[in-house]
Amino acid sequence: MFTMSSWISVIGMDHPRMRANVRWTDHVLMAKQRRNGPPAVSVFCLVGAIALKISENHPVSHTDEHSGTRRDFLYYATAGAVTVVAGAAVWPLVNQMNPSADVLALASIRVDISAVQPGTQITVLWQGKPVFIRARTEDEIAEARAVDVDSLPDPDAYNENLGEVPATDENRALSEDGVWLVQMGVCTHLGCVPLGEDGDFGGWFCPCHGSHYDTSGRIRRGPAPRNLPIPVASFVDETTIQLG
Ligand code: FES
Repeated sequence: MFTMSSWISVIGMDHPRMRANVRWTDHVLMAKQRRNGPPAVSVFCLVGAIALKISENHPVSHTDEHSGTRRDFLYYATAGAVTVVAGAAVWPLVNQMNPSADVLALASIRVDISAVQPGTQITVLWQGKPVFIRARTEDEIAEARAVDVDSLPDPDAYNENLGEVPATDENRALSEDGVWLVQMGVCTHLGCVPLGEDGDFGGWFCPCHGSHYDTSGRIRRGPAPRNLPIPVASFVDETTIQLG
């Protein structure tokens, strides 16, 4: 098993005082090694051993020794090596925060919409969040397009495909004829999932605190500050939509 004591012996810095300093560290590291395996722990041991050696050789400030002696050279060379080794030890910890392969694979999904009839919607899960895909009726489209944009609480279409544009229904619908509306099913107040075909404007209603969205998914009344977000989406063919 790799411990700080064993590394001190390997690199020739073994003496009683140092062993006393590292005994507690060995206790912690051996427990960690049993959980995580030896390679990462051994790197920690090596870094610790070298750091202790530096502190042994430089217990006090030596501002009067800046004349480029061999000792100074060894000091800075060792400090540089410690920095490199510490970086190598930390890298796996940083790297593990990157998205895993299965998460990256879900960055984009394709949805078959062939069974979605006008006046109905499906909800799909994408990147852990619900997405509403609705085929709107002519009445729903007409109602959404009759609204004066200046009267809306949120004037931004909130459409990732278009950037910052006015919240007209044309800027929110996925298809030019206005039939297809694709939006995140997450209330912009505190994140509840709104109910479809509900609320005072015939669109979506969030029962958590009473936010009403219209048939274009725009906030019309209640505490939600923004329209339902339109994610990156496009048609692959007539019956398939790609998210992401
Ligand atoms: S979370 Fe929807 S209104 Fe509060």
